[in-house]
Amino acid sequence: MPKRLALLLYIALVWCCFNNTPAYCLANETDRLALISFKGSIDQDPFGALNSWNDSLHYCDWEGIACSRRHRDRVTELNLMSQGLVGSLSPHIGNLSFLRIIVLQNNSFHGPVPQEIGRLFRLQTLALSKNSFGGQIPKNLSSCSNLDYLNLIDNHLTGNIPGELGSLEKLEALGLSKNNLSGTIPLSLTNLSSLSIVSLSECNLHGEIPAEINRLQALRFVQIFGNNLSGKIPSGLF
Ligand SMILES: *[C@@H]1O[C@H](CO)[C@@H](O)[C@H](O)[C@H]1NC(C)=O
Ligand SMILES: *[C@@H]1O[C@H](CO)[C@@H](O)[C@H](O)[C@H]1NC(C)=O
Ligand SMILES: *[C@@H]1O[C@H](CO)[C@@H](O)[C@H](O)[C@H]1NC(C)=O
Ligand SMILES: *[C@@H]1O[C@H](CO)[C@@H](O)[C@H](O)[C@H]1NC(C)=O
Ligand SMILES: *[C@@H]1O[C@H](CO)[C@@H](O)[C@H](O)[C@H]1NC(C)=O
Ligand SMILES: *[C@@H]1O[C@H](CO)[C@@H](O)[C@H](O)[C@H]1NC(C)=O
Ligand SMILES: *[C@@H]1O[C@H](CO)[C@@H](O)[C@H](O)[C@H]1NC(C)=O
Ligand SMILES: *[C@@H]1O[C@H](CO)[C@@H](O)[C@H](O)[C@H]1NC(C)=O
Repeated sequence: MPKRLALLLYIALVWCCFNNTPAYCLANETDRLALISFKGSIDQDPFGALNSWNDSLHYCDWEGIACSRRHRDRVTELNLMSQGLVGSLSPHIGNLSFLRIIVLQNNSFHGPVPQEIGRLFRLQTLALSKNSFGGQIPKNLSSCSNLDYLNLIDNHLTGNIPGELGSLEKLEALGLSKNNLSGTIPLSLTNLSSLSIVSLSECNLHGEIPAEINRLQALRFVQIFGNNLSGKIPSGLF
């Protein structure tokens, strides 16, 4: 009897995995646990954006999640824009190693921007604008070597702009406006040869605008008002 029961259970499991593919059959446990930890750091979800984040759905079908076609079960997108979410951003987000897009703009995230995001070397878009993120801009973001869009506008970030960001070769858009930063515009940013849009207004910056900004051929849009910058506006900006 026990043998037969085991066989029945085995058949049931195989049947379930090949026909219904529920979460526990195919899931990469790492991605699932990281998403559960993300949800665990949310204190308020007024519109029920995370209601679908339950065990009866595969996490690739959860609201705001997209997975890879080639590497099934690997999360490539986390998009929960304008959902009124209140909470912190779990550092376990750094375990979603296939992530290419993070869009959490216009929510009420507070606490730090986790350094662990620096582990996401496939990341292309990081949109965290219009939240209440505090602390410093993590230097580790400079490890996201595929990043082309970094938007941290309208948060409560403090400290200097890390010079390390100058190594983000693919960066096309950099938005840091409306934060309580300090210090100067790092010279290293003039190494960002793909840079097309820069928004550094109302950042509490001082010092001179580096003349080397002239060599940024791709630059189309620069916003720097509302700082205490001195010196000439480099001619190349016109
Ligand atoms: C799940 O993801 C982790 C981290 O990327 C990886 O080491 C592991 O091999 C993956 N497991 C499966 C079953 O794909
Ligand atoms: C994420 O990875 C770290 C180690 O890098 C590990 O300690 C942690 O448990 C992982 N978190 C999840 C939710 O898998
Ligand atoms: C899980 O989410 C789906 C989609 O939102 C919903 O239809 C279902 O009732 C939920 N299941 C549970 C147990 O909450
Ligand atoms: C921000 O999100 C709220 C919902 O929380 C929405 O009502 C509002 O229109 C959004 N604002 C923008 C600029 O998207
Ligand atoms: C941040 O980057 C430093 C230097 O590359 C590294 O030692 C550290 O482990 C990184 N932190 C995280 C949380 O990945
Ligand atoms: C901005 O930061 C400075 C210290 O760097 C602090 O004195 C000031 O109160 C902060 N302002 C706001 C609006 O948070
Ligand atoms: C700009 O990049 C070059 C070549 O990678 C490097 O030698 C130089 O130190 C960088 N300049 C700054 C200001 O970071
Ligand atoms: C702006 O910078 C000048 C020196 O460059 C300094 O004297 C002045 O106090 C600063 N103003 C503010 C509002 O920080």
